[in-house]
Amino acid sequence: MNQAELDLIQNGYLDIEVDPTLDLVEEINKLKKEKNAVILAHYYQDSDIQDIADFVGDSLQLSQEAARTQADMIAFAGVHFMAETAKILSPQKKVVIPDLKAGCSLSDSCPAPLFAKFKEKYPDHIVVSYVNCTAELKTLTDICCTSSNAVHVINSIPKDRKIIFAPDKNLGAYLIKKTGRDMVLWNGACMVHEIFSREKIVKLKHQHPDAKIIAHPECEEPVLELAEYIGSTSGLLKFVQTDPARSFIVATEAGILHQMAKACPNKTFIPAPPNNLCACNECPHMKRNTLEKLYLCLKYEQPEVTLSERVIREARAAIDRMLEISEKAGLK
Ligand code: 13P
Ligand code: SF4
Repeated sequence: MNQAELDLIQNGYLDIEVDPTLDLVEEINKLKKEKNAVILAHYYQDSDIQDIADFVGDSLQLSQEAARTQADMIAFAGVHFMAETAKILSPQKKVVIPDLKAGCSLSDSCPAPLFAKFKEKYPDHIVVSYVNCTAELKTLTDICCTSSNAVHVINSIPKDRKIIFAPDKNLGAYLIKKTGRDMVLWNGACMVHEIFSREKIVKLKHQHPDAKIIAHPECEEPVLELAEYIGSTSGLLKFVQTDPARSFIVATEAGILHQMAKACPNKTFIPAPPNNLCACNECPHMKRNTLEKLYLCLKYEQPEVTLSERVIREARAAIDRMLEISEKAGLK
C-alpha cells in the first residue's frame, strides 16, 4: 500500500502539504476546467467553499443537480451520504469528496444490519428514509425523502399503508404532527440540531422581541414549538428573503447564515445558541472539508466515493421515487 492510500484510510484525506502561497481559488477554478469537474456544496459548508462552488443547495437540490450535471467529475463538498447519493444518481461519473471521514451522526445512528432486523418486525410497513442515511440503508428503503419534500412523500402514500420512518425521530415526530399519519420511528437524531437550548432561545427572543425564530425540522419538539417557521435549509433561506421581519433567530447549522447574509445584507441573523459553551451549532462532519482538501481532491481525484453495482441499483429505486414525487409537486 502506498502512502496516499494509507493517508486515505487513516485520515480520510490526502495528507499532502499545500504550498501556502498558492491562490487556492484560482487553482481550484483551473482544475475544474481542466477536468470538466463540478463542485456541489451544501449550505453547511464553510463560506469559502460555498463561494467557489458551482452549485450550493439543500439535500434535495444537490441530488437534483447531481442527476442532471454533464460534468465528468463531481467534487462533493458535503458529507459522505450526500456524495453517495450523487454516485447513485450519476454512477458513470467520478465522485470525489474532500474528506472521506465527513460523516453524519444521524446516518451513523441507523446501521443497516440493525435496521434490517427492526424492519422484520413490521413486514407490512412501507419504509420511508430521510436521505441522511447510508446507501446501504437506502437499499432497505421504499422511498427516500429530504426535509424539503418529506411532507409530500408521506402524503403520497395511500392512507391505508403503514409507515416506518428512519432515521430521524425529530423529523419523524414533526411529520406525524404535520400529516396526521401514525408512523413507527427509528430512534436516531442529528447531534447538531439536538444541541439547541430552548431556554437560551427564549432569553434571546426577550432581548430581540422583533426577531422571528425559524428552525430546521431536525430540531427537537421544544425548540420547534417556539419556531414561527419550520423548513429545510433552502426553505429557511427563502423565508428570510420573503418575510418582512428584519431579524431572525436561526435554529440550524450556522453555515446557512452565510447565504442569508448574502441574500439580505440589511437583515440581522442570530444563530440559535447551543445548550453549552462550545460551537456545537456547527456540524463537525461538514466542517472537516476545507479549501485545501477540496483542492487536493480535485488535483489527485481522491478520495473517491465508490459503491457496488447492487447498492447503486437497489438504492436508486428509493431515490428515484423521491425525485418523481418532488417533480410532480414542482419542488426545486
Ligand atoms: P437540508 O439541507 O436538506 O435541509 O438538510 C439539512 C442537513 O442536516 C443536511 O445534513
Ligand atoms: Fe448529519 Fe446533522 Fe451534520 Fe447534517 S448537520 S450532516 S444531519 S450531523
